Amino acid sequence: MNILLGITGGIAAYKSAELIRLMKKEGFQVKVVMTANATRFITPLTMEVLSENKVYIDLFSEDERGYRISHISLARWADMVVIAPATANIVSKLAHGVADDLLSTTLLAFQGSVILAPAMNKVMYNNPIFRDNIHYLMKKGYHFIETGKGSLACGEYGEGRMAEPPQIVGFVKELISKSNDLKGKKILITAGATREPIDQVRFISNYSSGKMGFALAEVAQKRGAEVILISGPTFLEDIEGINTVRVETAAKMREQVFTYFKEADVFISAAAVSDFRPARQFEGKIKKEEQNTIHLELKKNVDILKEAGEKKDKQILIGFAAEVKSLKENALSKLESKNLDYIIANDITREDSGFGTDTNKVIIIERNGNTIDLPLMSKYEVAKYIFDLIKSHFERQSKGRIV
Ligand code: CTP
Repeated sequence: MNILLGITGGIAAYKSAELIRLMKKEGFQVKVVMTANATRFITPLTMEVLSENKVYIDLFSEDERGYRISHISLARWADMVVIAPATANIVSKLAHGVADDLLSTTLLAFQGSVILAPAMNKVMYNNPIFRDNIHYLMKKGYHFIETGKGSLACGEYGEGRMAEPPQIVGFVKELISKSNDLKGKKILITAGATREPIDQVRFISNYSSGKMGFALAEVAQKRGAEVILISGPTFLEDIEGINTVRVETAAKMREQVFTYFKEADVFISAAAVSDFRPARQFEGKIKKEEQNTIHLELKKNVDILKEAGEKKDKQILIGFAAEVKSLKENALSKLESKNLDYIIANDITREDSGFGTDTNKVIIIERNGNTIDLPLMSKYEVAKYIFDLIKSHFERQSKGRIV
């Protein structure tokens, strides 16, 4: 779980240090964005050391990859944003869509859950303008942690004191458990390349790393789904809590897919399944002394996804299309011929996309022809986007808008 902690300018900023420590203890990844005023209350260095990540302050600073669009990359990275302390100013800016520094801009670019822990003087806290802003944001789905009563920095006593860090962490955990939006869903995913043996030591394969399939599995599990991951050989390790079935050949992958397919609500075929296999496997190891030329006859493998398309009843089917040219046309024809609901097309000639990379530049084509051209993103972010689509597909299905 990636948490972006926004710190704004209030004396309670000193509590944010403890908040980061508690969040890290829970196993969350934490990145911090501070407003310029916040840095007058507590040093960015403290936050950097505790979060073990770079602290972001300037809208025009670079992110870790050197891109000058930190607000977008931070918004994509985060699963949840917590603002503690949240001043009247940030609440007001958020309520009015003001984006004039890194934190407020990131908030506008962020689509997930936002928790605000206000801290201010009691008169400000009870100011009807501030109350209106809070109510407006709550209606829009923002979460607020009520302030406690206590001594305030201004010397007065009353409401306006920021909730204590353990309470904020408790709130975060509760929200996470509620945001299990794929709970009860069974998601079957294939990943990686298959290996088709030529003899006992050689095989035909491709450059697929399995990263996209594993990212999908991880996101689905985080969102509460039951995940079955069928993976070809890869260097990636099993993800805790995910039933990972390791296979070598396309035939074995097919066998495993149809062991689980009937029960699945979604099947995502992210594996680069070998289209052909040697017609026969040579015994032992082929020795080079014995021949100058070897004729390797290849036979077509079963198209697993196409078979799933023929067998499908309730399942949402998602395929990938690895293309070197005519990206949209080829992907669309695969979507139709394999009876898919969505196809994720990527141009594998790009260096930053496709096999082995951590990022992907994809186009998603829906069954109705609708096309979504996503910018270059990490495979994890692409996975999140795909599950947002799946989530809304389920919602439309339950409202009877998709049969
Ligand atoms: N696929 C599959 N079984 C195969 C081949 C492909 O399940 N034997 C799935 C892949 O997992 C992917 C989709 O089909 O989701 C498209 O794979 P791709 O390699 O792009 O296309 P192919 O259908 O194999 O066609 P071609 O290689 O001719 O482009």
